[in-house]
Amino acid sequence: MSKSLQAIRGMNDILPEQTPVWRYFEGTVSRLLDNYGYKQIRMPIVEFTELFKRSIGEVTDIVEKEMYTFDDRNGDSLTLRPEGTAACVRAVLEHGITGGGQVQKLWYIGPMFRHERPQKGRYRQFHQIGLEVFNLEGPDIDAELIIMTWRLWGELGIRDAVKLELNSLGTSESRGRYREALVEYLSAHHDKLDEDSQRRLKTNPLRVLDTKNADTQAVLVEAPKMADYLDDESRAHFEGLKARLDAVGIPYVLNPKLVRGLDYYSKTVFEWVTDKLGAQGTVCAGGRYDGLVEQMGGKPTPGVGFAMGIERLVLMLETLEQIPQELSRQVDVYLCAFGEEAELAGLALAERVRDQLPNLRLQVNAGAGSFKSQFKKADKSGALYALILGDDEMAQQVVGFKPLRGQGEQQSIAWDALAAHLATCVVQG
Ligand code: HAM
Repeated sequence: MSKSLQAIRGMNDILPEQTPVWRYFEGTVSRLLDNYGYKQIRMPIVEFTELFKRSIGEVTDIVEKEMYTFDDRNGDSLTLRPEGTAACVRAVLEHGITGGGQVQKLWYIGPMFRHERPQKGRYRQFHQIGLEVFNLEGPDIDAELIIMTWRLWGELGIRDAVKLELNSLGTSESRGRYREALVEYLSAHHDKLDEDSQRRLKTNPLRVLDTKNADTQAVLVEAPKMADYLDDESRAHFEGLKARLDAVGIPYVLNPKLVRGLDYYSKTVFEWVTDKLGAQGTVCAGGRYDGLVEQMGGKPTPGVGFAMGIERLVLMLETLEQIPQELSRQVDVYLCAFGEEAELAGLALAERVRDQLPNLRLQVNAGAGSFKSQFKKADKSGALYALILGDDEMAQQVVGFKPLRGQGEQQSIAWDALAAHLATCVVQG
């Protein structure tokens, strides 16, 4: 195929054999979110570039080097969203739905775009399910977000393979004081820092904390600790969160170097990480951003949220073999009809059955074909049963009912009794 007809590097097709797992995952999460009282919001995929610069931060990897930014025909600078929080804040402000302290518990799903170096678990178009809560300032809601994800990992059968890392970044004042102390310390060790950290020291010093460079990590051992600079309010908030996680029995690891790659966080930050996926081990991450709404032009509004990467979680389900058996079968019953008259009768019969059994996955053969070829297709479809309509069945107004997997003889079922019979044989989702 010529190059122009290939998908863009890092942007994947999700093929029919993969979509059942995606739908299972998305269905499980959306059911859980419904049950906890969260409501879905849908935002555009493209926003003004300014939105992301102002919210994520000018000096972050995302804004500096990863955004898909272009001028549209009006000359406006637009960007394919690299994440969902900024657009969600823009939407709640634009529609006034967080005004007057109204609590909003929102979730969204969809593609995000970052021009990162593609590798396993890291793509340029990837998908997130994200969640944002507005106007709740206590640690109880931070805890709810984490408890909910903990339940999700349990339902998906991957709880043992993920670990929760927690940190508190404090209020912007306490972070400011910490930043000063850190800059002073790191400046004294400037020559021992890697080049990237030297640059970050000037632009975004907290990001030096999550360097991968061993020499810089060695310098950081003696660096001032964020926990020592937390103000009383942030400290109490963090204690409140930990007490709630302890009460529910959710294990966590405190990671004082967890700073996150987006600038809007304050107080709680957390990541769910796994060692089952190689280098791209963060499957879900988020935190509190109490200053963001105001920074974007709204009234002071506390906010907290997280997003999970669907590709990474689907990979986890595959790696840990936690894909439910029943996903492998997409068809319950396959109807084969031979001859024009039988085909017409079959169509009408299929619709009558569907009226009575709306959840039955009934596939009607299309494209006619010989007895042998239709049976082959019935078998390949994965169906449990074939229904057969030929001259004999037409004459007697019955349908041949043939089990395709396992034991059992073919039997004849009267058309009127077919739906009732199928209801007893097929467990419907
Ligand atoms: P984030 O940490 O940038 O946070 O992304 C959240 C999750 O999206 C990651 O933990 C990962 O699972 C997935 N992800 C990120 N980049 C990629 C990629 N290139 N390929 C595949 N998966 C990826 C945010 O986006 C924040 N908006 C989360 C948040 C919401 N914080 C508060 N509210």
